[in-house]
Amino acid sequence: MEVFICRTAEEAGRLAGERINNAVRSNPKTVLGLATGTTPLSLYKEMITACRAGLDYSQVRTFNLDEYYGISPDHPQSYRKFMNTNLFTQLNIDLANTHIPDGLARDVSAHCAAYEAAIKASGGIDIQVLGIGSDGHIGFNEPSSSLASRTRLVTLTVQTISDNARFFASPDEVPHYALSMGVGTILEAKQCLMLCFGANKAKAVKGAIEGGISQFNPASALQMHPNAVIYLDEAAAADLQLKDYYRWAAFNQPL
Ligand code: PGA
Repeated sequence: MEVFICRTAEEAGRLAGERINNAVRSNPKTVLGLATGTTPLSLYKEMITACRAGLDYSQVRTFNLDEYYGISPDHPQSYRKFMNTNLFTQLNIDLANTHIPDGLARDVSAHCAAYEAAIKASGGIDIQVLGIGSDGHIGFNEPSSSLASRTRLVTLTVQTISDNARFFASPDEVPHYALSMGVGTILEAKQCLMLCFGANKAKAVKGAIEGGISQFNPASALQMHPNAVIYLDEAAAADLQLKDYYRWAAFNQPL
């Protein structure tokens, strides 16, 4: 894992966004795995700024990690709505090239299998953007998710429901289920780019980077990924034992 500790979330977003913009510059048909939540917003801002300055996103294809199950794409809190508002409508991307699981899918297993097949047919995800849950989830792979899991219907933890209640009028409105790429699906991306900000992520970050690989902290599976890059702010990095080494290594990279 390459770990970068940044002063602020904005700085991390800038650096991570630069990676994505550079990938799109060298391959206009880059396949991106995308995430929702507060975390990727600074990164999305970088993409939007680059696109406004002329970077062409028209051929980029995207696959989102997850979607709440049981709500329609038009629901104000759906992840489809979130992505359209916060990113897609601000890029010159073709909406037909953006994929998000359908929260109203009737035949869930067929829908999930088709989602996996579409990722494969695209040539696979080049860069997968990830946040981390305060319980260590990536996508909606909650603790106890198999590290070999594929896209499927999952049950959210009480912790995640309470973390996400801030977006809903009341906690009772937060869906209890979601469709999520699996940990195994995520691990097949050519590069994983995880961003973690804020003190409430410090414990999960410590487990993900310095704990043993375990289904109790699904983000720890990234330790097995050959190209996982992690951007943290100071607060999220607070509990890391090797903080000084990560800083040292970041500034002394082998050529
Ligand atoms: P957040 O969510 O960015 O809103 O903190 C991250 C996640 O749950 O993966």
